[in-house]
Amino acid sequence: MSEQICSEVLVIGAGAAGLTLALRLAKSMQVCVLAKSRLEEGSTYYAQGGVAAVLDEADSVASHIADTLDAGAGLCHPQVVDYTVSHGRAAIEKLIERGVPFTRDPDDGHYHLTREGGHSHRRVIHAADATGKAIETTLLAQARQHPNIQLHERHIAVDLISRRKLGLAGDNRVLGAYVLDRDADRVKVFQARSVILASGGASKVYLYSSNPDISTGDGIAMAWRAGCRVGNMEFNQFHPTCLYHPRAKSFLITEAVRGEGGVLRLPNGERFMERFDPRAELAPRDIVARAIDHEMKRLGAECLYLDISHKSAEFIVQHFPTVYARCMEFGIDITREGIPVVPAAHYTCGGVVTDLHGRTDLPGLYAIGEVSHTGLHGANRMASNSLLECLVFGEAAAADIEQQQQQAWQPHRIRPWDESRVTDSDEEVVVAHNWDELRRFMWDYVGIVRTNKRLERAKRRVDLLNGEIHEYYSNFRVSNDLLELRNLVQVAELIIRSAMARKESRGLHYTLDYPEPNNSVPPQDTLLTPSGFSAPQD
Ligand code: FAD
Ligand code: SIN
Repeated sequence: MSEQICSEVLVIGAGAAGLTLALRLAKSMQVCVLAKSRLEEGSTYYAQGGVAAVLDEADSVASHIADTLDAGAGLCHPQVVDYTVSHGRAAIEKLIERGVPFTRDPDDGHYHLTREGGHSHRRVIHAADATGKAIETTLLAQARQHPNIQLHERHIAVDLISRRKLGLAGDNRVLGAYVLDRDADRVKVFQARSVILASGGASKVYLYSSNPDISTGDGIAMAWRAGCRVGNMEFNQFHPTCLYHPRAKSFLITEAVRGEGGVLRLPNGERFMERFDPRAELAPRDIVARAIDHEMKRLGAECLYLDISHKSAEFIVQHFPTVYARCMEFGIDITREGIPVVPAAHYTCGGVVTDLHGRTDLPGLYAIGEVSHTGLHGANRMASNSLLECLVFGEAAAADIEQQQQQAWQPHRIRPWDESRVTDSDEEVVVAHNWDELRRFMWDYVGIVRTNKRLERAKRRVDLLNGEIHEYYSNFRVSNDLLELRNLVQVAELIIRSAMARKESRGLHYTLDYPEPNNSVPPQDTLLTPSGFSAPQD
């Protein structure tokens, strides 16, 4: 009999989005938070540049909105951009109140604001070049001490439980999730009135990624299997500058290096970005990543170089202590030489479709942070708008859940996880092999530059893997790796289908077969609806 754990709120994910929501709701409710690895481990912890918000007198909400819309290439939802940007200052004030140690300018004592691609003002507040670590450790320390928050690490959600899945009559609603306790090797039932997907993105679907291993798109795949729509999955963002070194596992070199004057150079030392965009190194990310990809292919170069060595060593070490130290570990002194860089998959702009409260298509289920598609990012997320989205939508979803608190809630009798027909696998090699194959063909065929032919190739391969994984999943005991692979294959399929559906180039989706945006019709999101489920009203 599987263990059954009940709380009013179940949060799947302990990054900036999940913890923001959990800390607010814990004032009046019992909250369970799951993390499938260590609690800290998630993209939030590794965020470098900072959080975008209008904090300077010379800046304005209108300007932040205009920059976000511009980067989003016609697909941002203006109401969502307005809402998010307008709540930026309050979100930062909350973090300061919670004790996040943002960097101050030594000259005037004000918070230092840096600049990143696409931003027309300095508006990125940061904690040196380790902003995510400062946010995650501060929020987590408070969650650890909170009497109403139960933290469960190394617990991976397998699938959502809904009334429809259990065959119950009446309106569909989420009831909880089946969750594998990785240490006990047992699947438990977590029940809750509200379930929040805060499980991050899916960039691990690509061979080279800036993301930690947890970014396997679990929330997107679970929501899809539970009948929710997903949107704009073709827009995976590639960060232009990850460290190129055989021993560096895709370490990011923050865009703030370019914001503070770093320049991109070819192997012969020549600058090239001005040939691609008048904003040069500070053009939006899709443009910079494509320019690097183009130059690398043109020259047959293994990497290009990001150079900030013209600044003083003191300035570099003070602004970028993490980047400096990490590069030094590989014998690269960034105060004296260029940093070898390549693009890598970085951010999932699409995701589970939500409204302004983070509500998904399944009543009781919310999606916040990178797992979601709110409409903020459009076809290309502007730098440092994602942590902002985590904070703003963490609060918005929490406010919505608080409003429903008065309604009575009774846990259900939920059937336990059925393990009677499955045996231990003696073919783990299949999982490892399929994992590598998937990530490699996604990189080669569904990467920065796409074509119809490459997408068709990728589709054939993902269909094969889907069949194989389905058979494997039905016959063997679940494990962390198998669950992640099953989700990655599902997400890959959604990315490929979305990319095939978009017959134009826009933002992060660039295809040689349709190299221009189709301006003859208004730009539209790519919305996929699971078969057998009718799309609810917006
Ligand atoms: P995450 O922080 O990724 O957390 C996901 C959580 O979900 C984890 O706790 C994980 O264990 C849990 N989880 C996932 N699946 C399951 C499951 N099946 N069961 C249980 N738990 C699960 N954005 C900015 O705005 N500014 C920056 O400077 C910036 N820099 C970045 C640098 C790097 C290297 C990276 C990788 C990203 C950066 N980003 C930045 C993007 C930003 O960090 C992320 O979009 C954001 O942190 C996502 O937060 P999140 O709470 O949605 O998810
Ligand atoms: C970076 O610091 O370059 C990452 C910023 C982001 O992804 O928003």
